[in-house]
Amino acid sequence: MLTVLVINSKGGSGKTTLTTNIASYYADKALKTTILDYDPQNSSLHWLAARPAHLRPIHGANAAPAKAFALRSMQAWVPENTEVLVIDAPAGANGLMLKELVRKANYILIPVAPSAIDIRATAGFIKDLLLVGGARTSTVKIAVVANRVRSQSTTAYVALERFLNSLKLPFLTSVSDSENYLKAADSGEGVFDMDEMATFAERQELMPIMRWMEGHFPNRFGVRANDKVVSLENSRKFAAFRKGN
Ligand SMILES: Nc1ncnc2c1ncn2[C@@H]1O[C@H](COP(=O)(O)OP(=O)(O)OP(=O)(O)O)[C@@H](O)[C@H]1O
Ligand SMILES: [Mg+2]
Repeated sequence: MLTVLVINSKGGSGKTTLTTNIASYYADKALKTTILDYDPQNSSLHWLAARPAHLRPIHGANAAPAKAFALRSMQAWVPENTEVLVIDAPAGANGLMLKELVRKANYILIPVAPSAIDIRATAGFIKDLLLVGGARTSTVKIAVVANRVRSQSTTAYVALERFLNSLKLPFLTSVSDSENYLKAADSGEGVFDMDEMATFAERQELMPIMRWMEGHFPNRFGVRANDKVVSLENSRKFAAFRKGN
C-alpha cells in the first residue's frame, strides 16, 4: 500500500487541498483509495460527503479523537484492500501524534505557502518532523510543495527555494493559487475529476507529486532504478540546520 502523509503544523498551508486532489487522482485510476482524516475539523471527510455519486468512490476514515484524551473513533477503519492511503494531518501535530503519523507513512508531503511567516513556521516544523517525529531515522521519503503561488518572482518564493536547497529536500512543484481548487473543494471533486481543458494547468502542476511516488506501484507503473530514499543523515547541511544555522 502506498501511504502518503500530507502534513505541516502551520494551519491553512494546503494539506486538505493536496489530500483530496491526490486521493481523487488515484481513485480515478481505479485504485482502492482511502483518506484517513486526523483533523478534528474533518475537512477531508466533509469534502468526501459532497463527492458526486457518479465519481469513483474514496473511502473516508476518521482518525481524529472525538475530544482531547478520548479514545480514537471506531470510524478510523482503513479497508484491508486499500491500495492508496492518503492521510490528512491536523494543524499543529506534534509529539506522539507526529510519531504515529510518520510511522504510518511511506511518503511525506509538506505543503508550504511562500510567505515569510509560513516559511519560518515550516522550517521549525521540518525540524520537529525529523527529530521528534523520527523521520530522520526512518526510510520515509519527504518532499515539499509550494502552495498558493501567485508569482514565481516574489522575494518570499526565492527564500523558500533557498531554505529547501539548504535542507536538500526535494521541491516537487509549485501549486498555483487557483479558483479551480476552491471549486473542487466545494464540490467534492479533485481537479482530475473536472473538465480536462479547464484544469490543464492544475493537472500539470500536480503531476510531479504522483511521479515522485510512482515507484510504489511496481506492477502497474513500473519501477525507477534510481528511486532512492532521501538520505538526510548523510547531509552535512542537515547537521548545520540541526545546530540552528
Ligand atoms: N492552491 C490553492 N488555490 C486556491 N485556494 C487554495 C489553494 N490551496 C488551498 N486553498 C484554500 O485555502 C484554504 C486552506 O487550504 P487547506 O484547507 O487545504 O489548508 P489546510 O492546511 O488543510 O488547513 P488546516 O490547517 O486548517 O487543516 C481552503 O479554503 C482552500 O480551499
Ligand atoms: Mg486541513
